[in-house]
Amino acid sequence: MFVGLTAIAGFVISGAFARPPAYGAGSAPCDTIAHGYQCDDEVSHYWGQYSPYFSVPSNISDDVPDQCHITFAQILSRHGARDPTASKTKSYNATIQKIHTNVNNFTGAYAFLAGYEYTLGADQLTLFGQSEMIHSGNKYYKRYEQLADHLTPFVRSSGEARVVESAQNWTQGYHSAKLADRRRGRQDAAYPYSILVISEETGVNNTLNHGLCTDFEDGPDSDIASDAQTTWADIFIPPIQARLNAALPGANLSVSETISVMDLCPFSEHPKR
Ligand SMILES: *[C@@H]1O[C@H](CO)[C@@H](O)[C@H](O)[C@H]1NC(C)=O
Ligand SMILES: *[C@@H]1O[C@H](CO)[C@@H](O)[C@H](O)[C@H]1NC(C)=O
Ligand SMILES: *[C@@H]1O[C@H](CO)[C@@H](O)[C@H](O)[C@H]1NC(C)=O
Ligand SMILES: *[C@@H]1O[C@H](CO)[C@@H](O)[C@H](O)[C@H]1NC(C)=O
Ligand SMILES: *[C@@H]1O[C@H](CO)[C@@H](O)[C@H](O)[C@H]1NC(C)=O
Ligand SMILES: *[C@@H]1O[C@H](CO)[C@@H](O)[C@H](O)[C@H]1NC(C)=O
Repeated sequence: MFVGLTAIAGFVISGAFARPPAYGAGSAPCDTIAHGYQCDDEVSHYWGQYSPYFSVPSNISDDVPDQCHITFAQILSRHGARDPTASKTKSYNATIQKIHTNVNNFTGAYAFLAGYEYTLGADQLTLFGQSEMIHSGNKYYKRYEQLADHLTPFVRSSGEARVVESAQNWTQGYHSAKLADRRRGRQDAAYPYSILVISEETGVNNTLNHGLCTDFEDGPDSDIASDAQTTWADIFIPPIQARLNAALPGANLSVSETISVMDLCPFSEHPKR
């Protein structure tokens, strides 16, 4: 078996396969191991890269066809939910400080901002992110039970702290599902599984790190995403910016500060779960 975690994780198993059983419940009825985060889905599924893990509805069955059996599985996973990156946490905090400095009358739906204190950290996996990874390990044990019950996963992780911790939490969930598997007598002598951690330092051929792909980093299309973001921000942000600035006299939020305020929604919601 084989699991790789990168600022993205991967995972491989070999043997035969049974249909996935019904999965256990997660920490809230709307947050389950089987289906991920379905709480307030009309909002939380539209947070882009800040949405918690959720399974996407599909009419395409993910059951293994009857005439097939699985001999190998590989999972490539990103780390679980984290605090904002160091640079983002700085600009989010600065935006909140700016609002507090310049606005002296918080009313209506914005009244809560008067007492809102910025408390988010930087870069680290959150407790919620740890739980996402534990759920993932649990889910994958059950999905690949016929392989997983007698094999130990091979886990690779990129070296960043939140990624290594995600890998550890993934193995925790996998291990606890294995212990709960009555068929195999609740044993797992190989736990804690060894995790191959690959450094992200320059010069290391770490295939879990996008930094190795120089065309992606510096090639002619390397600015394609940020260019598109800027173009789109200039289209969709101004009405939102105008609405916030009208409701918060004195705030005078810029386009990027308006995006910061929007980003704060998912980052402030996750830790509560
Ligand atoms: C599944 O198929 C039905 C009937 O064609 C369609 O109405 C529905 O939107 C589809 N759901 C998804 C998630 O594609
Ligand atoms: C705060 O705003 C409300 C609603 O716009 C207004 O009625 C009130 O007079 C304002 N208070 C101060 C101290 O400016
Ligand atoms: C936010 O910025 C203020 C003012 O610079 C600082 O005192 C505070 O420690 C910062 N809070 C966090 C959580 O970084
Ligand atoms: C996630 O893994 C880290 C590192 O092993 C551990 O300290 C932490 O307690 C784990 N989280 C949970 C919720 O068990
Ligand atoms: C990384 O890969 C390149 C190209 O194959 C090779 O020249 C180099 O020696 C490798 N570096 C390390 C540290 O293994
Ligand atoms: C609002 O901010 C912009 C820069 O983003 C600045 O040019 C402008 O003077 C500010 N307006 C007020 C009323 O402070």
